[in-house]
Amino acid sequence: MITDSNRHVLFLILFSLGAIWFVVIWLIWLIGTWTARNRYRLRPRSPLASSNSSVAPGVSILRPLKGLDTNLYENLESTFTQEYPNFEILLCVAREDDQALPVLKELVAKYPRVAAKILIGEENVGVNPKVNNLMSGYRAAANDILWVVDSNVMVHPGSLARAVDALQTPTKSGRRVALVHHVPFAFSTESKVGSRIDEAFLNTNHAKMYLAINRVAIESCVVGKSNLYRRSDLERVNGSLKPIRSTAPSAKQEGLCGLPAFGRFLAEDNMIASAFWHELGLRHDLSCDVARNVVGNMSFYDYVQRRVRWIRVRKNMVLPATLVEPLTESIVLVSIGCSSMKYLFGLPRWICILVHFSVLLAIDLDVYASLAGHPLPQAIRWEFLAGWVAREVLALPIFLLAILGNTVEWRGKRYQVLNHGEVRQISRQRSFFELFSLRKEYEVLDTEVSP
Ligand SMILES: *[C@@H]1O[C@H](CO)[C@@H](O)[C@H](O)[C@H]1NC(C)=O
Ligand SMILES: *[C@@H]1O[C@H](CO)[C@@H](O)[C@H](O)[C@H]1NC(C)=O
Repeated sequence: MITDSNRHVLFLILFSLGAIWFVVIWLIWLIGTWTARNRYRLRPRSPLASSNSSVAPGVSILRPLKGLDTNLYENLESTFTQEYPNFEILLCVAREDDQALPVLKELVAKYPRVAAKILIGEENVGVNPKVNNLMSGYRAAANDILWVVDSNVMVHPGSLARAVDALQTPTKSGRRVALVHHVPFAFSTESKVGSRIDEAFLNTNHAKMYLAINRVAIESCVVGKSNLYRRSDLERVNGSLKPIRSTAPSAKQEGLCGLPAFGRFLAEDNMIASAFWHELGLRHDLSCDVARNVVGNMSFYDYVQRRVRWIRVRKNMVLPATLVEPLTESIVLVSIGCSSMKYLFGLPRWICILVHFSVLLAIDLDVYASLAGHPLPQAIRWEFLAGWVAREVLALPIFLLAILGNTVEWRGKRYQVLNHGEVRQISRQRSFFELFSLRKEYEVLDTEVSP
């Protein structure tokens, strides 16, 4: 029989758990905000930038390309202008008639002193078109260190030198760093609804969580917009995420290893990073640069589709973390947290909610300023804030939509997500959404991973 005192104890336990959860998530947010300040506000120049090529290890920069992305010329040019004495650029396109080719030729001609090659062709190693596209560059690369940078990413001229520094510096606990990644920082030149929401998401909540998780470093958490790693490490892993048995320094996994082994995943960069972490026991580092991601013309539908896509992929990779995700979103969190505070301490709900959202907005704008190197520009202030509010409101509905399905669309193709993030291409059916919107066939090539 449930008595009043039993019920009181039950509520006390539930609301205490709610209050603890509220505080824990806030601590994670504060760690993310503090890390952003600490890491990005000062970006010292690496000595490697002005060293000579006998000191600086060689790097092969791989650019997977398809079609004309927004800002493609500037994005690519930012790799030609790296301040680093020893690198080559491999520009990979799948087909002879790709629209990106004239841009590539123009850049190669403009920078005759940069060792740049255009590689045409793909190797079919799996369902992931980006991996198939990259294979030619992977095979042709002259150096062990590879830097894979997506076509929609622009980098600072000092990025490569700083990333190589980070790759060569072991972690505090003495582990070797196998991969250096860059937190995405979105900017859009268009006032499209989807672009603004995506921008508000990536530059605040996503960055804060990404930095906090990487700071705490209990699990691999990497998005693949800009990753630097060694081919010799990649050649030892096969994506099974099982620790390698032998302890010999050059021991490798059984079966197919290297980049071709990752063609079966949609989020291949995330899997490569996890493989280094779990199979080789190595760690990752973020350098103090961001991957500037130019968000093109994104409609509201594009935004929803993209979030749904990555929640579905993630659900099949890390189900528990994905299921917890809605509880970390601010509207659900504030409901749990402020009800608990009311029950336990009698704190009026409206004060709790007001403080929660004011401080949240303040830290989000602080994260923005840390990554951007300047405060939110006045010109986009209201649009950005509207995008931020929309992002918070949409989080739960998008999550529910995503959790109910298993197919994703990517670059105009439809895939079914299998276990562990592997995918299978399936025939295209018109989805409910598509009937109501006009879609571009080409989507930006990228991944996002939240906790
Ligand atoms: C990867 O290697 C492990 C151990 O070496 C092996 O058990 C597993 O079957 C391999 N996986 C694939 C997909 O080749
Ligand atoms: C975005 O779309 C608008 C029209 O909707 C067009 O004028 C503009 O050029 C497009 N921008 C890019 C970068 O594609």
